[in-house]
Amino acid sequence: MRIYKFIIMKLHRTLFAALAMAAGVTLNAQNAHNMVVQTNKVGAPIQPTMYGLFFEDINYGADGGLYAELIKNRSFEFPQSFMGWNIFGNVKLMDDGPFERNPHYVRLGNSGHAHKHTGIENEGFFGIGVKEGAEYRFSVWARGENQKIRIELIDNNTMQEKQAFEYKDLVIDSKDWKQYEVILKSPRTEPKAHLRIFLESAGTVDLEHVSLFPTDTWEGRKNGLRKDLVQALYDIKPGVFRFPGGCIVEGTDVATRYQWKNTVGPVENRPLNENRWHYTFKYRFFPDYFQTYGLGFFEYFQLSEDIGAEPLPILNCGLICQYQNDPEHQIATSELECYIQDALDLIEFANGDVNTTWGKVRAEMGHPESFNLKFIGIGNEQWGSEYPERLKPFIERLRKAHPEIKIVGSSGPNSEGEDFDYLWPEMTKLKADLVDEHFYRPESWFLAQGNRYDNYDRKGPKVFAGEYACHGKGKKWNHFNAALMEAAFMTGLERNADVVHMATYAPLFAHVEGWQWRPDMIWFDNLNSVRTCSYYVQQLYAHNKGTNVLPLTMDKKPVSGQEGQDGLFASAVWDKDEQAYIVKIANTSDSAQPVSVTFAGLKKNDKLAEGKCITLHSADLDKDNTVENPNVITPQESTVTTDGHVLNAEVAPRTFAVYKFVKASNK
Ligand code: AHR
Repeated sequence: MRIYKFIIMKLHRTLFAALAMAAGVTLNAQNAHNMVVQTNKVGAPIQPTMYGLFFEDINYGADGGLYAELIKNRSFEFPQSFMGWNIFGNVKLMDDGPFERNPHYVRLGNSGHAHKHTGIENEGFFGIGVKEGAEYRFSVWARGENQKIRIELIDNNTMQEKQAFEYKDLVIDSKDWKQYEVILKSPRTEPKAHLRIFLESAGTVDLEHVSLFPTDTWEGRKNGLRKDLVQALYDIKPGVFRFPGGCIVEGTDVATRYQWKNTVGPVENRPLNENRWHYTFKYRFFPDYFQTYGLGFFEYFQLSEDIGAEPLPILNCGLICQYQNDPEHQIATSELECYIQDALDLIEFANGDVNTTWGKVRAEMGHPESFNLKFIGIGNEQWGSEYPERLKPFIERLRKAHPEIKIVGSSGPNSEGEDFDYLWPEMTKLKADLVDEHFYRPESWFLAQGNRYDNYDRKGPKVFAGEYACHGKGKKWNHFNAALMEAAFMTGLERNADVVHMATYAPLFAHVEGWQWRPDMIWFDNLNSVRTCSYYVQQLYAHNKGTNVLPLTMDKKPVSGQEGQDGLFASAVWDKDEQAYIVKIANTSDSAQPVSVTFAGLKKNDKLAEGKCITLHSADLDKDNTVENPNVITPQESTVTTDGHVLNAEVAPRTFAVYKFVKASNK
């Protein structure tokens, strides 16, 4: 029987080689690596959540990035009230404004001279990016009796007088606080404009919450998100969206931890928080980095819904950043009640009926329907006994009140070692549903971890690879080889989809002028954005995730870059909806690798139709796409044929290849 199969395989290969040669393709089938996909052994389902996104406000990811607000320090609440502003003439800072949690505002008074002006000028986030022909909604809360202000977009290019290239006048006609709006249309593209407001009349005017948004935000929403950046997220087809961090969940101290309740309700009254990334790295110091929470939990849930991903909020577990705080300065376990209540209330906010306290808040914000929250994470990168001690009461209370919600615990900041080895059994004991693992590691780690999950306990909690990226040794920037390592490693996630249920690369966004951490998946400046090679790897997996794992072996072993496997990594899936077989192969070696993939177990009348091969490759391993040259390395698609059951191909050196064949039946 075996001999018979062997002869059939040889015949297939010879026939295919002949066809390929006729088509001008030379394949070295003799030395090919023989891989076998067992099409009749449909394995574990691949979770719809498998490939997702992790968002944190790092690298100006939210304010100055995804959140489309163009004005920095719009409510004058930064500790230095005029940070981001230039003021001139008779400007006073006041603190009895209409918004309780943001009490500051400015009073523009008469300069005392007919030819002199009083006004304020905002520098935006590394400037204000505006595009030719695009419209921008200026809004302000103001009071004054028939006072006129002028709003200008000015260039900031030269040392000469700054020129206005667009302006509108606005009459403030009420002595009570009221919101005013006016649309500015930019006649030109300017990456680093400023916004200037000055008093044109002789009296006094009060201004608060000074805001400027493009009208063309994602879905045209007023408190909206930057369209190109959301589009990039949407185009991945992510299965899960983890937010809002990361370390910002923990905070540097109790006061600065992330508190979701501060991020919902009217934007004008969401209190400012500092952003820990403003001072975390001395060599990347950004004293003007704060969180306005204009992008808050309602917007995160809405975004998850828009991009078709399951929301996965992470909450503080009662531990403040453990790198920065000793155990004795942590919140005592006896004082966890309000933290646990926050978790319970969050579920009500997301899913509760509109008549509940928090469901009502959601409805008033414009979303009476439930957000259908299914997962919640408690704690970020925690370690030591402090963590399970705190997680335990959360789990007890959440299970009781919401058995339908899956709870994600943490295995700490390291991918292995003492803390990791301590926490995993603790998570199993506490019956966490998933455990979040983080690994920012060099190439050697990714090459060695292709079989990381092969021997994980199948009965314990599932794995959430919640933060990972290849940090090239000595090359901590985005480059193709790092993305290739990620692609190779991810074959192991896919092969073990019975235990790995979610995976999210990190971090997601970075402003080219404001980053603290790299590599990152999507870079942007004030006007443009770029999808990196790591982005395309994530996209290739997410678009080709299939519905079930299929066993794929070479010499009866999984293809995970082990000795003798010539740097090859591979996995296979079946997509029952598309009736398609998908094989992913990463060739991490410097030589082309001929492969012969037999789709064993197909029924007599079944064969593989003409398929496609999508490759990601760069001859220069250190290169990546940039904002200036965004399309240097992108997935390339070509058609591939088989003899019906066997694919013979050559995977180019340092290449990630995805092959997809629809099943056809010969009737
Ligand atoms: O992704 C950047 C940081 O890395 C996250 O905030 C933290 O969880 C991890 O240490």
